[in-house]
Amino acid sequence: MTSANLQIRTICCIGAGYVGGPTMAVIADRCPEIQVNVVDLNLERVNAWNSEDLSKLPVYEPGLDEVVQRTRGRNLYFSSEIEIEIAKADMVFISVNTPTKTKGLGSGQASDLRWVEACARQVAQFARGHTIVVEKSTLPVRTAAAIQTILRAADQQIGTQGESRTFEILSNPEFLSEGTAIRDLEFPDRVLIGGESSEAIEALTSIYSKWVPLSKILKTNLWSSELSKLSANAFLAQRISSINAVAALCEVTGGDVREVSKAIGSDSRIGPKFLNSGPGFGGSCFQKDILNLVYLCRHFGLPEVAEYWEKVVSLNTWQQHRIARLVVEKLFGTVTGKRLAILGFSFKANTNDTRESPAIRITKDLLEEGAQLAIFDPKVTSHQIGKDLALSASSPPDDRNNSSQAALKGEGTWWSSTSVENALTGTDAVLILTEWEQFHDLNWARLGTKMRKPAWVFDTRAIVDPEIIKSAGLKLWQVGNGAE
Ligand code: UDX
Ligand code: ADP
Repeated sequence: MTSANLQIRTICCIGAGYVGGPTMAVIADRCPEIQVNVVDLNLERVNAWNSEDLSKLPVYEPGLDEVVQRTRGRNLYFSSEIEIEIAKADMVFISVNTPTKTKGLGSGQASDLRWVEACARQVAQFARGHTIVVEKSTLPVRTAAAIQTILRAADQQIGTQGESRTFEILSNPEFLSEGTAIRDLEFPDRVLIGGESSEAIEALTSIYSKWVPLSKILKTNLWSSELSKLSANAFLAQRISSINAVAALCEVTGGDVREVSKAIGSDSRIGPKFLNSGPGFGGSCFQKDILNLVYLCRHFGLPEVAEYWEKVVSLNTWQQHRIARLVVEKLFGTVTGKRLAILGFSFKANTNDTRESPAIRITKDLLEEGAQLAIFDPKVTSHQIGKDLALSASSPPDDRNNSSQAALKGEGTWWSSTSVENALTGTDAVLILTEWEQFHDLNWARLGTKMRKPAWVFDTRAIVDPEIIKSAGLKLWQVGNGAE
């Protein structure tokens, strides 16, 4: 059977994570005639997806709970019956994790494809009839080739039921941004489908076209599709490193990076988005995707291109160390034993995700210098912060006696604060690291009185009003603002 006359009636998605869960929920919502089965080997995660209480879904995304409520049990199902659901499916999405390798060949740069490979082998073993396999995870270029090779070995072989089996591979990268994933799925800028078989491409197009205009569904070959995903993230990250480079120059020359961003973003060829200077980019994708690109370039004998992209990451790292360094410099060259408040630990606002968060590197540098950090984030747990810093929380020091044992020894310590006010009390400085809405209009006149003078505000997201800070009697450093 070819894909042209193959009606997609049943989908199996392997991986019920941040990408697989929301994507399948929206497909099920928009295509009630298709049964969508999401499988995962993590039973705890499956149970959380099946939880009666929608606030317990394993992924927090605005609007996701409503979509799940409409579809779950109607045509959306979560289970760990991987083999059974693969066998039933006309189309299998691979949506498993692909972290950067931590050892062996390509360590620190290449993606670890062991989960993807395991999936391909499961599909090769259990699929029946004609199956379209769609790679959805963020994958390095040429992954489709690996999947294809595994499936080709099973192609044309007789299946368990005595029938012949055939496979087609498609690449369909995700472009979801955390915090707006449902909106990004419902109103995508584009959907990208890469593949060799026009029938298979049409079969996937027929699903997306239920809610996405055809003009937004781009069809490419496999390599273009995979490369587009990595390149899109590399371009976005490059804009952030570019504006952070301009910010550093603004600080020493007397410019204001926000004015520069506005001026350059008004050029319609450049556009205004992704020009906010800050503590550098975080999140699970940007660094991983660029490092994949770097690895590929080296592999294919393009060291100059590899170095070009590598610089985007090294400037990002530099920006984070630079911020920690200048905090130390402003506080008379030492933070040993000093109390500092950290506002925000997630990699951006509206998420509890801390993967590659700039806060991790900045706070680690300050701990290394012997600082005592009171950390407050509205969504990140103390347990997560401890894991990220590889350091357990200490108990908050007694306010009547600012010199804890660790402080006297010059060791860095941290504890989790329950409120902004609590975090700021008795500190010499506060660092705003995440742009949470509640940090935009804090009552600095009141909060300033709780701090030890001379007290500093280090605003790495440029969200406070300099006049308000000054009139509260506080000193201010703001990213990219050399006019201070
Ligand atoms: C990203 C991609 O945008 C998305 O398409 C998908 O491929 C997954 O990766 P995400 O990591 O969720 O999404 O967040 P994004 O909004 O892209 O922000 C990434 C980082 O850049 C954050 O740390 C954010 O604070 C930072 N950022 C973003 C800036 O510093 N300045 C900006 O102007 C924009
Ligand atoms: P992403 O952000 O890419 O969605 P996540 O880590 O949130 O990544 O989710 C990936 C999911 O894939 C995890 O829940 C993991 O348990 C699941 N997974 C990994 N390998 C397999 C496999 N071979 N079969 C089924 N599920 C898998």
